[in-house]
Amino acid sequence: MNRSLVLLPGDGIGPEVVAAAEVVLQAVCRKFSHQVDTRTCTIGGAALRAGLPVYPDDTRAACTAGDPVLLGAVGDPAFDHLPREQKIETGLLALRSSMGVYANLRPARAWEGLEDATPFKPQRTAGTDLIIVRELLGGLYFGEPRGMAADGQSAFNTMKYSVGEVQRVARVAFGLAQSRSKRLLSVDKANVLETSQLWRKTVTAMAADYPDVALEHQYVDAFAMNLALNPTRYDVVLTENLFGDILSDEAGAVSGSLGLLPSASLGDGQALYEPVHGSAPTLAGRDVANPAGAIGSLALVFRHSWQAEEEARAIESALARTIREGYRTADLMTAGHTGTSCSQFARLVAERL
Ligand code: IPM
Ligand code: MN
Repeated sequence: MNRSLVLLPGDGIGPEVVAAAEVVLQAVCRKFSHQVDTRTCTIGGAALRAGLPVYPDDTRAACTAGDPVLLGAVGDPAFDHLPREQKIETGLLALRSSMGVYANLRPARAWEGLEDATPFKPQRTAGTDLIIVRELLGGLYFGEPRGMAADGQSAFNTMKYSVGEVQRVARVAFGLAQSRSKRLLSVDKANVLETSQLWRKTVTAMAADYPDVALEHQYVDAFAMNLALNPTRYDVVLTENLFGDILSDEAGAVSGSLGLLPSASLGDGQALYEPVHGSAPTLAGRDVANPAGAIGSLALVFRHSWQAEEEARAIESALARTIREGYRTADLMTAGHTGTSCSQFARLVAERL
C-alpha cells in the first residue's frame, strides 16, 4: 500500500503527540510493508506566529486535495484577544468546513487497567465501548445571523438545520450501527426546539432504509444523565453539533482522561483526524502529554481512509496492551504504575506492534 498523509502539528502539545503518532506510523509501515508519505503543514497559533493567516492557503490546498489529514491541536492563549474572525478556533472551523467533514466520530471506551482513572464507578463503566457521531458543520456553530449588539447588551446565534444536513450525517451513523451492534440512539431536544423536531422526523423516516438497525430517541438532558449512570447501554449515538461537543467530553470521563480520546471527521471523500484534547499550553514542550488520542486517531486513519482494518486493530491492541501493562503518562499516573513520557509511550506502543 502506498499512501499519503497530511500532518498538522499545530500548537501546544500538538507537535509532540503528532510526532508520537509518526513513531507508531513508521512501526505499522515496517510491520505491514506499507509506504506512507507524510507532508507537514502549518495551522493555528503556529501559523500566526510565522506571520501567516490562521489557516494559510498552502495548508488549505494540502488539506482539500483528498489525502487524510492528522491534526495535533490548535489553540494558543497569546491570541485569545483577537476578534472572532481571526481567532484560532475560527481557523479550526474553517479547516473542518473547507474539508466538508460533516460527521465527527468520537469513540469513548473503558480501558482495562485504567479502572481507577474514571470518576464513575468502574463496575458501571467496565465494558463501555460507544461512538458519538456529532454533526460538525451545522447548528449554532455556523448558523447565520449571529452577532453581538452594538451596545454590548445582547448577543445572538442561530440554530439551523436542513433535511439534507441531517440525512448525510445520519447515513454515516446508521452505517456505523450496521457494522457494530445494530443499535442507534438519536439525541435531540424535540420537546422544545424546531431544529430537533426536524432532526427526529428526518432520522425516523430514514430508519425504513435500515431495517436491521434498532433506532431509539432520547432528549439531550435525559441522555446526559443516562450516559453517566449507565454508559454500557449505548453503542452508536447520533446528535447535532453543540450537543455532540458537550456529550463527547462527558463520554471522555468514562475513559478517565481527555488525552485518551481519538476522533475522525468524515465528509464525502475527505477526512480529518484529531485527538479530542486541546493544545494544553501548560504541558507543551515538556514531553509529558498523553499521545494515546493521537495514536488512536492514526488507527482511525487506517480504518476509515484506507480501509485497512487489520492495521487499525493492530494499533489499537498495541495501545491497549501498553495501558494494560501499567505504562502511564502524567495525566493518568497513580501509585503502582510506570510513569512514561509522551515519546517513551509512543516507543512502547511501537514495540508492541
Ligand atoms: C472540539 C473543540 C472545538 C469545538 C473548539 C476548539 C472550536 O471543543 O473539537 O470539541 O467546539 O468543536
Ligand atoms: Mn469540544
